[in-house]
Amino acid sequence: MRALTFAEYGPTSVLEVADVPEPHAGPGRIRVAVRASGVTPADCSLRSGRLRDVAPLPLPHVLGVDAAGVVDEVGAGVTGIRPGDAVFGVVDIAELGGANAEYAVLAAWEPKPDALSWEQAGGAAANVETATRVLDRLKVGPGMTLLIEGAAGGVGTVAIQLAVARGATVIGTAGARNHEFVAELGATPTTYGAGLGERVTALAPDGVDVVLDCAGSGSLPDLVEVAGSPDRVVTVADLNAAKYGVHMSRSAGPGADPQALEGLAAASALAQQGRFTVPVAAAFTIENAAAAHQLSETGHARGKIVLTL
Ligand SMILES: NC(=O)c1ccc[n+]([C@@H]2O[C@H](COP(=O)([O-])OP(=O)(O)OC[C@H]3O[C@@H](n4cnc5c(N)ncnc54)[C@H](OP(=O)(O)O)[C@@H]3O)[C@@H](O)[C@H]2O)c1
Repeated sequence: MRALTFAEYGPTSVLEVADVPEPHAGPGRIRVAVRASGVTPADCSLRSGRLRDVAPLPLPHVLGVDAAGVVDEVGAGVTGIRPGDAVFGVVDIAELGGANAEYAVLAAWEPKPDALSWEQAGGAAANVETATRVLDRLKVGPGMTLLIEGAAGGVGTVAIQLAVARGATVIGTAGARNHEFVAELGATPTTYGAGLGERVTALAPDGVDVVLDCAGSGSLPDLVEVAGSPDRVVTVADLNAAKYGVHMSRSAGPGADPQALEGLAAASALAQQGRFTVPVAAAFTIENAAAAHQLSETGHARGKIVLTL
């Protein structure tokens, strides 16, 4: 089968659509014929070798952790799903890949809601899991005010909508060109960078209750000040979190939080109600994956980058 791989660490030119053996659905898993699959900043870090010390990979490695497609194999013990069903979901996240391929084995999935296109569903699952995990940890609920640093990206756009659905008020930071976009998703936009505290106070005179950092831009000291305490801040992107007493949430590896895979069903239900979508920044064919990685590496994709098959 065709799969997006790299056999050595390096720039986007190391990406290759290679012919690799098809995976098969073991117990509790399903295999899908992939229609679309997400690209994440972590994929770029894995490819470049930036993570080679913390997450060494057997090479060649097949990239991608989420996908949407049509079920074609159902593993032992799996009920409620049949070949031919349309689903979206994640691979075993600890394997750090396997989804940017013609066939992918999913470890968690939900029926694809009609309200999401293949591209939207293909890039949904990992960010829904991430946002749900962090909103749960921050105990985001009705009446709370949440600040999201990095609201216009893949994680941020999903987190805005899931937090609004929980009844929270959301302030989201983005570059000026993305303010209208962030507002359409349900957050009050503001600019990131110097003076953030004053801008947030103007928007939320009673203060914010909790903060999600999905930018990893080095702003944690400011975010802690805005929140009033490091335990009201969670980052998914800043590797210096411990230095500021902030929790860095991960879904796999040492110190990982429990995965919030129940978020997939919740997001799917919201999508059917017209309360959740996945803004797609751009879709590329798998043969054009280098352009997808280049867009991700700009750090300014508006929403989710996906690959189609
Ligand atoms: N730990 C986990 O479980 C986990 C899971 C998923 C992702 N992550 C990490 O979370 C981070 C975000 O992932 P993502 O997929 O959302 O990335 P992304 O889609 O590439 O994020 C791009 C967005 O970041 C915004 N941005 C750039 N510089 C910013 C700054 N200084 N302040 C605030 N926003 C800024 C951009 O908005 P503008 O164009 O408006 O500037 C752009 O819309 C990555 O580091 C990723 O590796 C971690």
